[in-house]
Parts: sequence; C-alpha cells; structure tokens
Amino acid sequence: MKTLPLLERSSFEHAPLAVFGSSRDAARAVAAEIAALVRQRAREGRPCVLGLATGSTPVSVYAELVRLHREEGLSFRHVTTFNLDEYYGLPPTHPQSYRRFMQHHLFDHLDIDPARTHVPSGVVPKAEVDAHCSAYEQAIRAAGGLDFQILGIGRTGHIGFNEPGSPRHSDTRLVTLDPLTRRDAAGDFGGDAGTPRHAITMGVRTILAARRVVLMAWGQHKADIVRQAVEGEVTSHVTASFLQEHPDATFVLDAAAASALTRHRTPWLLGPLEEQRLSWDERMTRRAILWLSERRQKPILKLTDDDYNEAGLQDLLRIHGSAYEANLAGFYQMQHTITGWPGGRDPRKAKPGDAPVRPLRARSSETFPKRVLVLAPHPDDDVISMGGTLCRLVDQGHEVHIAYEVSGAGAVSDEAAWRVLVFARDSGLVDGAARARLDPLCEALTAGNAQPTPELLGWKALIRRHEATAAARVCGVSGPRLHFLDLPFYHAAPRSRRYGAEDVARLRGLLDEVRPHLVYAAGDLDDPHGTHRLCLQVLRDALVAAAEAKAAWLDDCELWLYRGAWAEWPLDEIDLAVPLSPQEVLRRRRAIFRHETQKDQALFLGADRREFWQRTEDRSRRLAQAYNALGLAEYEAIEAFRRYAPAEFLKSVAF
Ligand code: F6R
Repeated sequence: MKTLPLLERSSFEHAPLAVFGSSRDAARAVAAEIAALVRQRAREGRPCVLGLATGSTPVSVYAELVRLHREEGLSFRHVTTFNLDEYYGLPPTHPQSYRRFMQHHLFDHLDIDPARTHVPSGVVPKAEVDAHCSAYEQAIRAAGGLDFQILGIGRTGHIGFNEPGSPRHSDTRLVTLDPLTRRDAAGDFGGDAGTPRHAITMGVRTILAARRVVLMAWGQHKADIVRQAVEGEVTSHVTASFLQEHPDATFVLDAAAASALTRHRTPWLLGPLEEQRLSWDERMTRRAILWLSERRQKPILKLTDDDYNEAGLQDLLRIHGSAYEANLAGFYQMQHTITGWPGGRDPRKAKPGDAPVRPLRARSSETFPKRVLVLAPHPDDDVISMGGTLCRLVDQGHEVHIAYEVSGAGAVSDEAAWRVLVFARDSGLVDGAARARLDPLCEALTAGNAQPTPELLGWKALIRRHEATAAARVCGVSGPRLHFLDLPFYHAAPRSRRYGAEDVARLRGLLDEVRPHLVYAAGDLDDPHGTHRLCLQVLRDALVAAAEAKAAWLDDCELWLYRGAWAEWPLDEIDLAVPLSPQEVLRRRRAIFRHETQKDQALFLGADRREFWQRTEDRSRRLAQAYNALGLAEYEAIEAFRRYAPAEFLKSVAF
C-alpha cells in the first residue's frame, strides 16, 4: 500500500524521507498512495478518512486526484475529509477561505458527498469556539479517526496552524498566526492589514493521532525549516519536528526542499563520498573548501593540512596531495567566477594579454555584441536583482531587452492608485466619457472603499509599467526593447496560481523574436508568493518547446539565474560574479527608486522592514565581503549568477 520510495536514513535524519527530482513527480506519488488507500477501503466496504491541507503545496496533489477521478474512475463516495484549519473571521464564501479553496481545487470536481467534507468554521461566535473545536475532535473520532493526513510546512515550521510554541498535546483550537505566516499569506489578502490574525486549527495531538502522515515541501524557501524539522531536536518551536515521534510519518520533498539536509549540503560529514554514490567533483570540492574556510574563519589560501584533517576532509588532502594544492583548486574556482565583462569583451578593443572572460563558454565569448534578454517576473526584479549588471551590459554595447513577465498590479496599494488617478482627474486633461469613468473610481479610492475591479487593477498595472519604464531608462534600455508580457497565470489569486499553455506560448514567442545570446532569469525561488517559481517553470517549458522545434538561436544561448531581494546564492553555487563600482551601486539605487509604489508603502515588505534598495545594497555588499574574506579582491559590491540548465531542457537539447 505504501508506495513512496524511502531513502536510506542517514545518522542525521530522524524521520523517513522520500525525495523526488520535481514537485510534480512527488505530488503524483503522494496522490497514488492516497488513491490506493481510497480504492482498498472501497473494496473492503469501509469508509476512508482523509485529513487535508490547503496552501500552495497540496494543489498539485489535488489536481492529480481530480485527474484520477475523471480519467481512471477513482471514486470518493466512501471518503470523509477533515481539513486542518480555517482562517478565523472568514465566512465559507470568502474567496480566501479554506472552504472555498477546497471546493475550488478538489471537492467540486469529485463525487464526494458534501456532507462528509469538514472544514472548521471561520465564523463561529467567539463564545462558541471551544464547543466548536471539541465537536470537530469528536467528529473525527466518530468517523473512526484519520487514516491519512497530508501536511504542508510553514516557514515557521508549523503544521496546520500550530505555530512555534504549540505543545504536543494541543487539540483543535483558536490560535494567533505568527508574523511570518501572515506575511506569507499577505499576498492573498491584498497586504498586511487585511490578513487574518487568527485561525482555528487541528492541534498537534490531533494530527499525530492520524494513522499515516505525509508532510510535503517544495522549493528552496522550505529547505532550512525542513532541515530543522528532520535533523533537529523534537521541539515545540518547530511543530513539524513532532512528526519524528510518529510511527508512520514521511517527509516527501522535491530536490530544492531537500537541499539543506546534511546529505546534500555537507555529505562528507556522513562518511566517505563513494559510499554515498557521490564524488569529489569540482563543485563538491569547492563546497567543502568554502565550508572549511568559513568554519575556520580563514581565507582559502591560509588553510592548513591540520584544518583539513580536523574537519574530516582528509580525502581532499589525499586527492590533491596537500592543503596547498587543494586550496589553489578552490581558490581558482572562485576567482574564475569573477568578470567585469558579463557579455564578453568587444574583440575590436582586445589588447594582447587580456585575461579570458572565463565564466562564459568559449564559443559564446566570441559573439559581440550580444542580444541579451533579462526576464523580470515582477516589474522591479530586474533592477533590484541585477541592476548593476544590466547597466554594464548596456554600457558595454550589447543589445539589451527586458521582459516584465507579470503586471505586478497586486502589489500596488489603493493609496498609490489614488495619487495617480486623482492627479489625472485634476489635471484638466480628462473630460467627457473618460472623466465619467474616472470620477466614481476616484471617489471610491478617496473614501477608502474601492473594490479590486479589473478596471482598478488595470490602472495599477499601468502604474507599475510606467515605473518599470522609468527604471529601465536609468539603465539605458527603452522603447521596443521593453516587453510587457502580462502572463495570464498572475490574474488568479496568489495561492491558486498555476501556469498554462498561454503563459508558455507568450514567453516562447518573445524568445523566438529576440533570439537571445544571453538570458537572465529569476532563480530566486524564495519569493513569498511563488511568482518567481512559476515564471521559472514557464521559462523551462518555453525552452523545452524551443529545443524540440530546433530553434537555431538556442545553439548560441547561455542561460543565467539571478537571485532577488529575499536571498543570495550560496557561494558554492555561484558561476558568474560581476563586481560593481561605488558609482554603479548608486546608479542601481536610482533605478530602484523609480519603483515608487514599492517604496515605503510596499505591501510585501513583511517582517523585514528594509526597503528593496537597502536589501539589494546589503546583499551585494555582503557578497563582496564574503569574496574578500575568502582572500579574493575587495570590491564595493557583487551581483552573482548561477548557470541554468534544467534537466527537462537538457534532455531535449545537445548542450
Ligand atoms: C494549510 C496549513 C498550513 C500550510 C503551510 C504551508 O492548511 O495548515 O500549515 O500547509 O503554511 O503553506 P504553503 O503550502 O502555501 O507553502
């Protein structure tokens, strides 16, 4: 019955794990196990009781269950469900209520009896909350207990809404949401102010009483908390860690969510690499040397044989002969990531003795000037994440295009829209029918009760478009080199977004039009609402389609990923580092300032109150300091990139 392929447990891991290459494969495997259970119970004529979760994680599992129902006749007539939680204060009809979410993603598409689907009530009066929660517990028991509970994990480590501090013996109850959880949900509620503060959630004890528990996590942004839950001690500070004590709980992860586990991050701590079917390739060597340098607080070239020996890295001494040689291998790898010529040098200006532009492929470095396509998921990601490099590419004579993938309208406050629209109304330039359209909108915005109608969202999108245009002007890009793709997936509510053929076709069309030599895309998979992740999936699919159609431009194309406001690449993953001068840092700041709606009123700054320009400067300065601490040159700031080579794409192209 249990079909998930479990990894052999390492000494650091305190819970069973199944890790898949992609979240799609992982979700299919989880759905298959649920389907097997549902079928078995139907054969036995017994009911099947499922515990369900909401959020972005289980969406793909639900999509697969719906497919199994439609295409393979999987029936849910005997299934009873209990959801983990509901926001307190939201009626079931509210677009962001978990009841609505479940109807939309699952229940409406199955033959399940609506009376057997249970979600805590978000509108039960305060005085009746305790009774409601006890009745919920009682209903689970009366149904025979939970057979199978699926879970996501919040970045606070919560399961359900059992935030840090929730005890092991907690039952279904009213709770207060953690600020980080509220920040992650803010996108669904148009910002911080409208985000619920409380929820009713099953307790830790309720969840642990399920006979089988599967916790799923997808994406880099979950990697650290997954490591704590799996490798850390059992603690109420990370309620997912309680699953370590469950007799039949499995963590199901995609590769990104598993990436911070010791087996991936520092596998040499688990014993010889060969025994783990790993090898000391360049990347692993670099990772170990950087780790050692940081641990010892020493520049790479000062590491000694003793340092290696004491940290259990004798293998590197054996392979390289001495610390001196191993140090050089790590040092040169880092040095060769650095170039001030991200698009290669102009051959007409080449001087004898010029160092090669190492991070670029040999063939690619011959083409000059290059056509460059910078993909910005939101209208400010280009300048926030790689504004300095963008300016350099323009200044060095390349043909730089910027494509803004989504409108970003959701992140413009009503206050910001009010300023622009009331100005337009009062300008005296708007009259007649246009004025008649504008007046009621201005009135509603002034009164503070404007609805998020397509018209208002359209204005907000236009505001961001103008900001992006102004910022791109600072970098020297304008006119037909700016592309606003307005990908349709963004029009759905944040946590319900899924991309489709139209999104892929739009990006594919642009790639074929620009025929870029260099593509820069957001690999910043930590953004709170998953837009960057979706944009990267759209790019992956567009590249696969282009490769299958044998698009000639692909032969000369290099793909780079940047990281945005939320995190930087780990040093060992950097393939290209572009140093910036103090002047370039200031120019980038000017460009970021053009995004006025994202300044002090930004809806999504969240717990980190620094503005985007400050985060950008801190991040790129810290990176420069990290290079310097390794013993490399001291720069003002560095922007870093990783080579992009998605497996699905590589399969279809000889790269
Ligand atoms: C949802 C729930 C939460 C989520 C968690 C992860 O019913 O109880 O614990 O599972 O917050 O959310 P996503 O999947 O959106 O990252």
